[in-house]
Amino acid sequence: MFENRMKIRQAKIEDLKFIAKCHQKAFPNSLSSAMGSAYLMKMLEWYLIDSRAFLFYILEDNKCVGYCGGLKHDGKTQFGSASSMIQHSFHAAVKSILLRPWLFIHPEFIAKYKLILKNIRKRVTGNHKPSSSTTQVAISIEPHTGLIVIGVDPAYQGKGYGSKLLWEFEVVSKEMGFNKLMLTVKSENAQAIKSYQRNGWIILSDDGKSVTMTKEI
Ligand SMILES: CC(C)(COP(=O)(O)OP(=O)(O)OC[C@H]1O[C@@H](n2cnc3c(N)ncnc32)[C@H](O)[C@@H]1OP(=O)(O)O)[C@@H](O)C(=O)NCCC(=O)NCCS
Repeated sequence: MFENRMKIRQAKIEDLKFIAKCHQKAFPNSLSSAMGSAYLMKMLEWYLIDSRAFLFYILEDNKCVGYCGGLKHDGKTQFGSASSMIQHSFHAAVKSILLRPWLFIHPEFIAKYKLILKNIRKRVTGNHKPSSSTTQVAISIEPHTGLIVIGVDPAYQGKGYGSKLLWEFEVVSKEMGFNKLMLTVKSENAQAIKSYQRNGWIILSDDGKSVTMTKEI
C-alpha cells in the first residue's frame, strides 16, 4: 500500500517551490532554510542546470514529502558541489543576506566563512569557472555518485520515506553506470547515519565532525 501511494518524480523547475518548502521543514535550523525560499529555489535550481547533478522527490498528499540530490563524479579531478552551487546562487545569496543581516552570525555562516570568502573572491576576479588548478579539489577516487542532500518532512519521517529515497538514489546511480555511492554526514546526525546503515551503507571514516559513508551496488 505504501509503495502504491507513493510517487517518485524527477524534479522540474516548477517543483522547486515545494521542494524548497520540504527542505525548510527537514532542515529547520540550517542557514539555507533561514535564507528564505527565493534563495533556496535558486540553490535547488543548480541541480537542474549542472549536467553532473540530479534531483528527485516524493510526491505524496499533493506535496513534496522528501527529496534527494546527487552528483556524478567521473573519478577525474573536478570541482565539488559546494562552490559550484554557491556560484550559481550567488546573487540570490547576497540579496538574502542583505535582507537578513543577522545571518552573518549564523553558526553555519561562520563555519563556512572560508568557503564563502573564496567564492566572493572568485566573483570579484571574474574567475567563476573551474579553470585554475589551484582552486580545484582533487578527487582521486574511483567514479561514484555522491549523495549531497536528502531530507524528509518531519511529519513523514520514520515511515520508510528516507529508505525509499536511498533506494531510488541507488537505482538512478546504477542506470547512469555507477556502482559506487558516497556521502558525508555530520557525526552528530545519528538519525541519518542509522538510516544509511539500515540501507546497506558502511562507514569509511569518522573524524568526529563528519562521517564518510559508502555503498557498492
Ligand atoms: C535522514 C532522513 C532523510 C531519514 O528519513 P526517514 O524517512 O526517517 O528514514 P527511514 O526511511 O530510514 O526510516 C525508517 C524508519 O521507518 C520505519 N518504516 C516504516 N515503514 C517502512 C517501510 N515501508 N520501509 C522502510 N522503513 C519503514 C522503519 O522501521 C524505521 O524506523 P526506526 O527508525 O524506528 O527503526 C530524515 O531523518 C531527515 O530528513 N532528517 C533531516 C535531514 C537530514 O539530516 N538529512 C541528512 C543529511 S543531508
